[in-house]
Amino acid sequence: KRYSRITGTGSYLPPRRLSNHDMVALLAARGIETSDEWIVERTGIRARHYADDGVNASDLALAACQQALQAAGRQVGDIDLIIVATSTPDMVFPSTAAILQHKLTEAALAQGQPGAAGGAAFDVQAVCSGFIYALTVADAMIRAGAAQRALVVGAEVFSRLLDFNDRTTCVLFGDGAGAVVLEAVEHDGQGPGVLASDIHADGRHSGILCVPGTVSGGQVLGDPLLKMDGQAVFKLAVGLLEDAARAALAKAGKQDADIDWLIPHQANIRIMQSTARKLKLPMDKVVVTVHEHGNTSAASIPLALDHAVRQGQVRPGQLLMLEGVGGGFTWGAVLLRF
Ligand code: ACO
Repeated sequence: KRYSRITGTGSYLPPRRLSNHDMVALLAARGIETSDEWIVERTGIRARHYADDGVNASDLALAACQQALQAAGRQVGDIDLIIVATSTPDMVFPSTAAILQHKLTEAALAQGQPGAAGGAAFDVQAVCSGFIYALTVADAMIRAGAAQRALVVGAEVFSRLLDFNDRTTCVLFGDGAGAVVLEAVEHDGQGPGVLASDIHADGRHSGILCVPGTVSGGQVLGDPLLKMDGQAVFKLAVGLLEDAARAALAKAGKQDADIDWLIPHQANIRIMQSTARKLKLPMDKVVVTVHEHGNTSAASIPLALDHAVRQGQVRPGQLLMLEGVGGGFTWGAVLLRF
C-alpha cells in the first residue's frame, strides 16, 4: 500500500517584528486607539512579523523550503511536485509555486546542485485552510502515483491586505511561511504517514471574511483590503473545526484521546481553546504560536508544526491533528503519524 509521510519541516518569519506596543504606536499615528491588553485578552497575540517592501510570498517560501529540504536530507532535484497555499501570491499569474520552483533552482545551481526536474507546480487558494487543502491534494497525488516527493508550502504576506484604519482586523495578521517535504512510502499502514483528511467549503459565507477587490482593465476594482465579521467567523469556526477533526478521526478509526498534538490554524487563542475543549484535549497538547506569529493564514499550520518539531515538542511516531478554517468559508483537518 502506498502512503505519504512528512520527512522534513521548515519555516521562515521575516525579521521585522512588531509587538503590540509597536501596533499601538502605528495606529496612534492614524488617530486610532488600541492597547496591548485588548489585543492579548481577545486574541492571545503579542507580536507579528511583516515582510519588507519587495519581499514576496515566494521569497518567504524559498527560505522555508530550503530548511525543509535540509531536514529531509533532500535536494530540489528530488522534488517532482510543488504546491503553495497562498492568498497573497506574488502576481496574478504565474503561480507563486512556479516562481518558487525557479528560485529554488537558481539557489540550487548556485551551490552546484541540480535544479528542479520540471515537475508540477501550482497554487492552492483556500485562505487560512490552504495548507490543509494543499497537504490533502499532495497526499492524494502521491497515493495515486502521480508524484513521488512533494514540497507542500503555506506562504503569506497578509500585511499587504490589511486596512490600518480598521483596528479590529489589522492587529490580527502577520507574514511568514512554512513548508514540509512529503514523500511516498510503501508500508503496512502502521508506520508514519498521513492517515486521513477531511476538507470542505461553503461559499454562502464568503462575505464574512474576504478581500472583495479584483484587478481589471489595469485597475483595482472594489476594495483590495481585508474585511471580516469577527463574531460571525468565531461562531462558525469552532463548530466546523470540531466537525473536521471528528471526521478525520473517524476515517482513521482513532479517538480524541489518541491525539498527541493538536496543531490548529493560529488565528486566535480563544478559538484554539474552544476547539481543544470540544476535543477534550488539555491545552498542553495544543501547539501555540499565535502569540508570536499572529495569524499568518495558510502559513500558520506549517509554521507551528516546524516550530514544535524544532522545540522538541513534536517527536517521530506521534499522532498529529492539523486543522484549519478560513475565508470561503473553508475548513478541514489532516490526521497523520509523524
Ligand atoms: N483595540 C481596542 N479596541 C478594539 C480593537 C482593538 N484592536 N478592535 C476592536 N475594538 C473594540 C471595538 O471597537 C468594540 O468597541 P465598542 O464596544 O466600543 O464598539 C469592542 O472592542 C468590541 O468589538 P468586537 O468586534 O465586538 O470585538 P470581539 O470581542 O468580537 O473581538 C475579534 C474581535 C478578536 C476579531 C473576535 O471577534 C474574534 O476573535 N473573532 C474571530 C475571528 C478571527 O480570529 N479571525 C481571524 C481570521 S479568520 C481565520 O483565520 C479563521
